[in-house]
Amino acid sequence: MQLGALTLSSNLFLSPLAGYTNLPFRLTVRELGGLGMATTDLVNARSILERKTKALKLVETAPADQPLAVQLFGAVAAEMGSAAQLVESLGMAAVDINMGCPVRKVCRVGGGSAMMAELTKTAALVRGMVEAVGIPVTAKMRLGWDEQNLTAPDLARALEEAGVSAVFVHGRTRQQGFGGTVNLAGIRAVVEAVKTIPVIGNGDIVTPQSAKKMIDETGCAGVSIGRGAFYNPWIFRDTQHYLRTGELLPEPSFEERIRVMGRHLDLMVQVFGEDHGCRMFRKVAPWYAKRFGPANEFNKAVVGLSRRAEFEEILERYRRWRAQFLDETGELKPRFRPAPMSASFMQEPGARASGHIPVPKGPVEVW
Ligand SMILES: Cc1cc2nc3c(=O)[nH]c(=O)nc-3n(C[C@H](O)[C@H](O)[C@H](O)COP(=O)(O)O)c2cc1C
Repeated sequence: MQLGALTLSSNLFLSPLAGYTNLPFRLTVRELGGLGMATTDLVNARSILERKTKALKLVETAPADQPLAVQLFGAVAAEMGSAAQLVESLGMAAVDINMGCPVRKVCRVGGGSAMMAELTKTAALVRGMVEAVGIPVTAKMRLGWDEQNLTAPDLARALEEAGVSAVFVHGRTRQQGFGGTVNLAGIRAVVEAVKTIPVIGNGDIVTPQSAKKMIDETGCAGVSIGRGAFYNPWIFRDTQHYLRTGELLPEPSFEERIRVMGRHLDLMVQVFGEDHGCRMFRKVAPWYAKRFGPANEFNKAVVGLSRRAEFEEILERYRRWRAQFLDETGELKPRFRPAPMSASFMQEPGARASGHIPVPKGPVEVW
């Protein structure tokens, strides 16, 4: 997969999830394989230019965390250009522009999805960024403001002319928030609107099959996965394998999930310190637990996590409690197994109803 002059090892991308797609999570996913490129949480262009501690922490990276794009938001052309240069000077592989964020704080200043409504101004800003740096500049957008204003094809075309190397499209409108179904025809219209740049489809991909369906039905060059990777950090490896061979790898075992969850916590502690890392992990661990089968006891205990060693005790108690749901071979009895995942745009037999990928609670719940 080519992104401008940059060659990626796969066409699978990690979508930015503010508060979640930090360095420890990116490293965890990369160790499992299959990921072409990751993007940081969105970073305010002005804050990074002012070298605010919080903004610098958001772009913290490591040699194993490559290739990495930094996502910027802002609406002041000069600031966005200088911030892109700063991102390049930090050794990043690409810079992404947030044009899809529906949060009021971001739109009020003319950033995020407000950019979708102002084509000429947005194209000029993007051209300035492209001219300011040598690394690829990409943009991430929704389909439009609402059903009546599906502006993404026009915007993508204008951005291609302005020099972006790729566009990422979440197949929903701003008005939809995270409800309803991802609109594959809407993504297809963007693919058809551009001449040569790759379009990366996004939204609700939770299985290798749903990645394939989005690629097949929209003609997109690759897909970007957000929440699905939180449920299942193996999704990139599994999807890459499925796209290459048509074969589905078996789901990771419970013990493998525990191992990777522990690795994720270790990285959180390394990057954020034991106290803060453990606190942050309180909202991460329940995502892993969604695939454990019955997990109430685990979730109740993990909300109080404050020391790394405590985590082992929580797991020990949880293993003892979970034993009641296992058969003689140590597998979950069939009635306790979690239902297979399914994307909103693809209902598989026996799958849970659509729209079930929750938007995590917290300050970012309005995304
Ligand atoms: C908690 C949360 C935080 C998000 N943060 C960002 C962000 O910083 N920048 C961005 O462009 N999109 C952000 N998004 C949108 C995702 O990147 C993605 O487009 C969306 O979740 C749909 O993909 P998914 O169904 O694979 O998660 C966020 C979504 C969620 C749920």
